[in-house]
Amino acid sequence: MEILRTVEELRKWSRKARRRAGAHASNAVGLVPTMGALHAGHASLIRAAVQSCSHAAVSIFVNPTQFGPSEDYERYPRTFVADCELAAAGGAEAVFAPSVEEIYPEGAATFVDVKGLSNRLDGASRPGHFRGVATVVTKLLVAAESDKAFFGQKDAAQVAVLRRMVRDLRLGTEVVVCPIVREADGLALSSRNAYLSKEERKQALTLSRAVRRVEALVKHGERRAEVLIAAARVTFAVEPAVRVDYIELVDWATLAPVETAAPGALFAVAAFLGETRLIDNTILG
Ligand code: PAF
Repeated sequence: MEILRTVEELRKWSRKARRRAGAHASNAVGLVPTMGALHAGHASLIRAAVQSCSHAAVSIFVNPTQFGPSEDYERYPRTFVADCELAAAGGAEAVFAPSVEEIYPEGAATFVDVKGLSNRLDGASRPGHFRGVATVVTKLLVAAESDKAFFGQKDAAQVAVLRRMVRDLRLGTEVVVCPIVREADGLALSSRNAYLSKEERKQALTLSRAVRRVEALVKHGERRAEVLIAAARVTFAVEPAVRVDYIELVDWATLAPVETAAPGALFAVAAFLGETRLIDNTILG
């Protein structure tokens, strides 16, 4: 597996991969953008990329612009060697691991802002977060010239922002969304789970419990947003150590709140366990 450090190297790799796949192949190059600290959730994205594209690359870049000033940029887990092993074992042919200066050259002043969507859900509690995500993903997709890019449904609001961005900028990459991967007890996999103490790890199950409760209610015919959100609040109330950031029922495309859970609506929660912020969600059937 190749380790690529510059945009030029990534572009060369991608163009060569496209030539090998045949110039007109529509699924020649797949990209899995990550911030590293790879886990089974990322492995599922890499698997999907390898299965549906002739050549797959993983990017590993802890993107400073998507972290707020008091957030965990400095202490975000960095496990590069293990990440490369996981990427190679999954069949990725290249890892793109640029420096901050490579992605943000001295004086970089260009940002991508998906107006409206960027201020909703995680964007409301993490101002500037989605601007950072949209900017770095644009740079990655332009550099990789990928046919498909793979993201996890766990970051459902991010998916909505990126889908809109790719459409608006006509980036020509298909956004592929892969299902949430969970631990056996229901906890959604996240690189930030590594921060949790033993006690917090148990309390963190409140998020998936709230999601399951709402799914069960919808299955039994309940569709009213206020009832679904209230039920989730009751689940959180049982575990007061878990501080709710948001509980929302929204249209997945616009992230605007809805009053009724139509099929395809996004039910999403975010909560703090100590300093650690976790998210979870479900797309209602
Ligand atoms: O989902 C993530 O890991 C990040 O937000 C992404 C998409 C790699 C951009 O830095």
